[in-house]
Amino acid sequence: MTTVLDPAATSVGASLTTFTAALSRPRGFGDASLRRRRPGDIELLGGIPDDSALPVSELLASAQRVLSDERAGAGAFQYSQSAGLDELRAWIAAREGVAPERVIVTNGGFHGLSLSVLALIERGAPVAVDNPVFPLFLRALELSAGRAVPISVGPHGLDVDELEHHLRGGGRPAAVYTVPDFHNPSQGTLPSEQRVRLVELAERYGFVVLADNPYRELRFRGTDADQRVLSESDRVVHVNTFSKTLGPGLRLGWVVAAPELVEAFVRVRNRQDSHTSTLEQRLVIDLLTHDDTWFDRTLERARALYRERADVLAGALRERLGELVEVEDPEGGFFLWPRITLPGLDPARLAEASAERGATYQRGDFFSSSGRPEFTDRVRLAYGDRDVATLREFVARFGDAVDAVAAGTDR
Ligand SMILES: Cc1ncc(COP(=O)(O)O)c(C=O)c1O
Repeated sequence: MTTVLDPAATSVGASLTTFTAALSRPRGFGDASLRRRRPGDIELLGGIPDDSALPVSELLASAQRVLSDERAGAGAFQYSQSAGLDELRAWIAAREGVAPERVIVTNGGFHGLSLSVLALIERGAPVAVDNPVFPLFLRALELSAGRAVPISVGPHGLDVDELEHHLRGGGRPAAVYTVPDFHNPSQGTLPSEQRVRLVELAERYGFVVLADNPYRELRFRGTDADQRVLSESDRVVHVNTFSKTLGPGLRLGWVVAAPELVEAFVRVRNRQDSHTSTLEQRLVIDLLTHDDTWFDRTLERARALYRERADVLAGALRERLGELVEVEDPEGGFFLWPRITLPGLDPARLAEASAERGATYQRGDFFSSSGRPEFTDRVRLAYGDRDVATLREFVARFGDAVDAVAAGTDR
């Protein structure tokens, strides 16, 4: 006799916790099913550094030095402290202008964000977030079932007036999440005076500023905002990463926070991965300290490369699309956030027409944090890992798609 089992009761899915089962599947941004990658397609999808800007041969030399240390690679194969190796914390602290006790080494920027959410956001608490927002932050927020409250981001970063209005009206967010330099997706940078105001509001209303700043070393024109404002305040948790400078595959980042918050992060970590790879930290310490000028010299070259790419892309868009596009020259980072001025533009239709011509990008509406279809006339173009010839070809294809949608000949 055969027994018929209830498939719901026997499926692996039935053993998921309600917490895990409730985690959202990627929709829009990050949804791999939207990618129909064909040979020859040009993707300007991700904030990815160029391979040529990454320290492959230098890291090989570091590995040779570290691994020839007779003390088993200077302890590189052993357990180490949860907050990170002292030498790496000290290097980061010196760069940030803060005390080393305020630094915790993480497995990349996203890890710093998820640790912050777990350590600082009460379940279901409201969190004010950029609008448009880096969509993966909304995913991290699910760890605490946090409720996103959208605050506009313009050409000069977070709209601090709008935030203040929200606070005066009784809004009490547990945290405010923003990308202060070369915003993802909207390219702007929060000026120093607005940083000061943001920290003052945090002190007055008792929230934490989650400043997520992966692109900050990649300024290629203009003047830097005052970085110390955010690094020094105990009200700010400053999340950063080596992903855009040394490579995202390293999964190496850090958080700067008040010492008691660092301690809280360590407590969370002691229930997870214990610490970032000792071997990798040893290699990167050697890389950064073997020659004190190496990192800055490398960044200078990388910035020149990204500036050229940004300028070629923005210039080609203006030349090809004329009045159909509005685009700002970025001062750093990896993104353009052009506006396509076709009235009533359907973002799905343009993305489809462009993909058919072999040019893919992220639709502006994927970055809305309000739950409403905003930024439908925007596109996010990521130029970091594409050479200038490829960027020009992208614009030729994308321009044809815009023309076809404008003329109604795309269908
Ligand atoms: C705004 C923002 N925050 C965080 C991250 C994540 O950085 P990491 O790759 O180090 O986890 C990225 C990466 O694209 C980003 O753009």
